[in-house]
Amino acid sequence: MKKTVIQSFSVILLVVLMGCKEESKTIFTEGDINIVPKPLEMTFNQGAFRFNKETKLVAPKDHEETLDVLKDRFTAAAGWDLEVVPTAPSSNFVLLSTDSSLAEEGYSLKVTDNQVVIRANDYNGFLYGLETIRQLLPVAIENKSVVTNINWDIPTVEIKDSPRFKWRGFMLDVSRHFFEKEYVLSTIDQLALLKMNTLHLHLVDDQGWRIEIKKYPKLTEVGGFRVDQEDKPWNARPTPDLGTETTYGGFYTQEDIKEIVAYASRKGITVVPEIEMPAHVMSAIAAYPELSCFQNPIMVPSGGVWPITEIYCAGKDSTFEFLENVLREVMELFPSPYIHVGGDEATKTNWKICPDCKKRVAAEGLDNVEELQSYFIQRMERFLSSKGRTLLGWDEILEGGLAPGATVMSWRGVKGGLEASEAGHDVVMTPNSHCYFDYYQGDQDVEPLAWGGNLSLSKVYQFDPVVEGMSEQQGKHVLGGQANLWTEYVPTNDQAEYMTYPRLAALAEAVWSSKDNKNWNDFSNRVGSLFQRYGIMGVNYAKSVYQVTTETTVNPESAVISIALISEFPGSEIRYTLDGSNITTTSEKYTDPIEITKTTTLKAQVFKEDRPAGALFEKTITYHKAVGKPVTYLNKYHDSYQGAKELGMVNVVRGSKNFHDGQWQGWLGDDMELVIDMESPTEMEQVTVGALENQGSGIYFPIQVEIFLSDDGKSYRSAGIVKREYTANNGSELKDFIIGLGKQTARYIKVKATNLGSPPSGGGSWMFIDEVVVE
Ligand code: ACM
Ligand code: ZN
Repeated sequence: MKKTVIQSFSVILLVVLMGCKEESKTIFTEGDINIVPKPLEMTFNQGAFRFNKETKLVAPKDHEETLDVLKDRFTAAAGWDLEVVPTAPSSNFVLLSTDSSLAEEGYSLKVTDNQVVIRANDYNGFLYGLETIRQLLPVAIENKSVVTNINWDIPTVEIKDSPRFKWRGFMLDVSRHFFEKEYVLSTIDQLALLKMNTLHLHLVDDQGWRIEIKKYPKLTEVGGFRVDQEDKPWNARPTPDLGTETTYGGFYTQEDIKEIVAYASRKGITVVPEIEMPAHVMSAIAAYPELSCFQNPIMVPSGGVWPITEIYCAGKDSTFEFLENVLREVMELFPSPYIHVGGDEATKTNWKICPDCKKRVAAEGLDNVEELQSYFIQRMERFLSSKGRTLLGWDEILEGGLAPGATVMSWRGVKGGLEASEAGHDVVMTPNSHCYFDYYQGDQDVEPLAWGGNLSLSKVYQFDPVVEGMSEQQGKHVLGGQANLWTEYVPTNDQAEYMTYPRLAALAEAVWSSKDNKNWNDFSNRVGSLFQRYGIMGVNYAKSVYQVTTETTVNPESAVISIALISEFPGSEIRYTLDGSNITTTSEKYTDPIEITKTTTLKAQVFKEDRPAGALFEKTITYHKAVGKPVTYLNKYHDSYQGAKELGMVNVVRGSKNFHDGQWQGWLGDDMELVIDMESPTEMEQVTVGALENQGSGIYFPIQVEIFLSDDGKSYRSAGIVKREYTANNGSELKDFIIGLGKQTARYIKVKATNLGSPPSGGGSWMFIDEVVVE
């Protein structure tokens, strides 16, 4: 039959139109690949695979539900219900294929133009391959509702990946503040995205017992609730009177726990329960006073308790019976091979005087109460190991002798990890220096109230669970690392997210990626994509990494102050002003350290794509007459707090409320006495001495500051004095002690600040000073 011209034309037109509908695939570059944690090996090939609603998902029979990671995302964000089929079609599929040669939790991923193949040898391996695909997809894949006009393309890559450590953990303290089950489930999702495999739930502490135990219902009825004092700072909540109504709290029923554990398991995560003992258990003692040495009735405390003296009695067998019964129910609920029993921070004063505890010490031939704690933990270890579980505890369980089969969680730095691994025990490294997510992550003047300390994103990134000084043999005992979110200062989900993300991403890379693959510059580029994902998911991640910080140096010859502006992310654009005016897109761009020789208000901000990315930095730097002058200490600062040493008092740099910030000089129990040589007779009107108080950490304002002047450096005259009486203070506070001099001329200034000496609450008395401002 003869085709008409019109017919042929129509066919061609149709083909052309269809061709137009099929847009060309995304052209990727290697820089578009932003997987966190960084995979072990990756080759990028020019090209792309496109998902569409016909893409088939193929899995071995027992791995079908693994595919939900991807399937659920496409259902939500693309509105497609991708079909799961038993065998692969000729093209356009994602195939899971078992490969017994691959490492535990490892996977390989091969993406070509028309197919995607994930090989793994276990459940987690497949999951992680799928999570990698998720991170290769456009960030829009994180949407909870359908987005249109997206090409769901991923670059053609070949990846071989496996974790450096098998313990990749995160601890959530659900006692100090209670977090609903839904929040725990959302945390599990976030852990899975980062290929983390352990969620440690801190279920018991003084301020709340959070897990239903059927045999002891009062643990949650009484121990799960406290008097609501959420309006007061954590360490300023008075002990409530017995019988006061308790309204703050909550707990997980056993059904909740089952749901959490099952959900976690589907995401490749083991939930490790922590049941604290013998201390951090006032919530249990409030419910069952007979568990303590003297059985005094107590309330569940609403806030900080220190030292912790109300602890379980180690003398009575009934204590151990109770704990074994509790752990029986706990083991029923948690399949975790590890059961965490706490063991930290027990003040054993009651044990020294309790008749039952004394009897135990004698009967067991123990030398002291440290050995009694060791007896306690060893007894629990025998019980747990008889049930096939491994006891895990904070590094205090080393004191008095470590139980034979115990695994140690090293938190007071790395010492516990070094010691336990040396003795052939497994360890999980969670040093507070790098893993405590309750610490500040940026400038304390800008950040929301936190516990203290300082743990920036880049410092988390530096974390290495295998520490200097560990032999190869010790290194083999390092199971991995973990971040801990203690929640004294974390009352809400929003705040918990803020403290956790993005620091968890840095930690994930520290425990997953190979040492050779760790590179902060590279991470700082990749993590931007994760920020976008968090944004879409509605995760309240911190943007503290975009804060400007400063590094100030003083040249003693010229008395010129030099200020470097720093952003944690290398190559960030920082804009600044020096005249107090607001920052705009046309403000000066920072390149080199700024030099100042007069009092100056510095404002600075990181910009990203012409928009401010972080909080505004604003500080007035008070330039003064003593800048860079020689300082002689008649009584020198303590070795532990040297501030900026010789020039520390005359470098214009003021300390922050973080007493570890490197600006504070400290005196323990004694007075500060120093002389500033102004180098020529100088007229002055006032001297200001900056001080910090943080009574919770044993730091007190001076009770007196006196200024003496001299022309020859030998005979001094008193020129002014301020006194201040001790006042109880729950916060962290900065104070300037200002001594007016009238108008006087002298060459030498002697400054004497008097230490409080003996605080009413006992303990040592630190005095912290940051600057002597002479005007
Ligand atoms: C701890 O931070 N007390 C383990
Ligand atoms: Zn006792």
